[in-house]
Amino acid sequence: MCGIFGCVLKEGNAAPVIHGSLKRLEYRGYDSVGEVTLHNGQIFIKKDQGKIDEVHKLHNLDDLPGNIGIGHTRWATHGAPLQVNAHPHVDCSGQIALVHNGIVENFVELKLELENRGHVFQSKTDTEVIVHLIEDVLNVNPSLSLTDAVLETIKKLCGSYAIAVVSTKEPDKIVCARNESPLVIGVNENALYCASDIPAFLPLTKKAVIIDDGELVTLSLKGLEIRKIADSSLVTREPKLIDWTPEMAVKQGYPHFMIKEIHEQPDCLRNTLRLQEHYLDLMATFPDRAREVFLVACGTSYHACLAASYMFSKLAFLATYPVIASEFIEQHGKSVNIDSTILAVSQSGETADTLAAVNCARQRAATILGLTNAIGSTLTRVSRVYIGQQSGPEIGVAATKTFTSQLSVMAQIALRLAKKRGKVSQDEMDYLADRLQKLPDIVKTIIETQEEKVKQIAKKYKEAKTFFFLGRGISTATAYEGRLKLMEIAYVPAIAFPAGESKHGPISLIEPGFPVVFICPKDEAHKTLIGNIMEMKARGASIIAVIEEGDEEIKNLADDYIEVPKDIPEVLSPIPFIIPLQLLAYYMAVERGFNPDTPRNLAKSVTVK
Ligand code: G6P
Repeated sequence: MCGIFGCVLKEGNAAPVIHGSLKRLEYRGYDSVGEVTLHNGQIFIKKDQGKIDEVHKLHNLDDLPGNIGIGHTRWATHGAPLQVNAHPHVDCSGQIALVHNGIVENFVELKLELENRGHVFQSKTDTEVIVHLIEDVLNVNPSLSLTDAVLETIKKLCGSYAIAVVSTKEPDKIVCARNESPLVIGVNENALYCASDIPAFLPLTKKAVIIDDGELVTLSLKGLEIRKIADSSLVTREPKLIDWTPEMAVKQGYPHFMIKEIHEQPDCLRNTLRLQEHYLDLMATFPDRAREVFLVACGTSYHACLAASYMFSKLAFLATYPVIASEFIEQHGKSVNIDSTILAVSQSGETADTLAAVNCARQRAATILGLTNAIGSTLTRVSRVYIGQQSGPEIGVAATKTFTSQLSVMAQIALRLAKKRGKVSQDEMDYLADRLQKLPDIVKTIIETQEEKVKQIAKKYKEAKTFFFLGRGISTATAYEGRLKLMEIAYVPAIAFPAGESKHGPISLIEPGFPVVFICPKDEAHKTLIGNIMEMKARGASIIAVIEEGDEEIKNLADDYIEVPKDIPEVLSPIPFIIPLQLLAYYMAVERGFNPDTPRNLAKSVTVK
């Protein structure tokens, strides 16, 4: 997730307007920033790594000349957060500049073709191929307009993009386009703006034109022209009036970041499905060779590891050990060695306990693999191989979208490992890969169809003093994560156990009306789980079940139920099944009058041990 912005002004300098707007997009990414303007047929660029304020202090982002320009605030995906990888990127001649939000999936092939034709690349980004492709199209056909050259170029791209392009050859224009990454246009009498999000231009205009996937827009002082990428046909669309307050704008109309981030999960999951094969293969190579594999993390990331240990076992027949990072040194510090592989999972890449465990393992020559949302973080620097989970910045303290993204990445690694080890038939692999591809839509359906129901359940149970969360097998991890969410933001004491273990102690807590949440995918443990539900019911518990659609057996037993679509493979089930529990925690916090974004005593990134 990055932020792009561009403006064409009737009067005045574009640079300070771009700077101000990028500040309002900073929540989309903040590891590097850059601007380009056009003036007297020349291009002027400033860019560097670091937060916008830091870069501005060093370079003064406001003194670029000209009334037209584009800018970018970055959240690194391909290429470390360094000056050379910061946007804008330029072609070989330095006359075309481009900013991009998204992922070009086929950039390796495109880059090779372009290099063979003599293009020289400066950065490690996927983005740079787009600007060289535009140059290439214009080299072949110099009479093409910038709009037509961009149209021809983007037909060659696979993946997601929102781009904005300027060129000295047509210095009065910005051409932008979108596919699966957001793009909106702001309009007033004196200017046109393009941006990743409405908040970028909200103080400048309240009139916005929303651009759809597969559309390209040319902005100039003459106005805006929208075309369909497929057939270049013109589209007419009237601007909408946006009546958001600035605070609502940053949250895109949602009351809290947490609910916004819950709703972002289909897009984040789609991004995780665009990871480069090469890195996934590499990540799978080390566990395959290791004598022992530890999955090390804290908090929500630990729950992702716990679920992943079932994935590795069930798909790749590989035993892995999930370990809470703060316990790693005590438990394994003396035995970890050169034959051990540690997969450290950390959204922030900066959690002190996780880094301490990694450090201990490194000193004993173990192989460190990293999975993180923050490219450039300490974890990426100490890992032999790392992979970015592609969730974009998460502002809510409670991890939501970063959890499901971590699960999706680890499921893909487990699948690669299964293939390497020849443990899963091709048919099963194809089936699992197909279901993984469908997960973004499945998660979208759950949010669309179940949110209201979960809200009502939260209303009903808002006074409950304690909650139980139970699941079997991989759903144990879902139960733990559901409990953590409820506890940390709604301040409801909660207990989670593997359902089979509940009769060895925790069941003694049950009194009439005690809410027990069961996670009930239709897997091999389904029948046994029904037995566990009966045990609780017999003691008067109120059963809240998360079930697959059409699971009449459990529907009949439950006091309340939430449905997720059918036919989800067991190993992928935590991804859809956690969604209702995230929503439950969110609405319980709201019902109980707490701000879910800033739970007391907690921090997003815990950098002390
Ligand atoms: C803190 C956060 C949790 C997070 C945990 C691990 O406790 O409040 O939401 O799961 O740290 O963070 P990491 O960045 O390492 O995933």
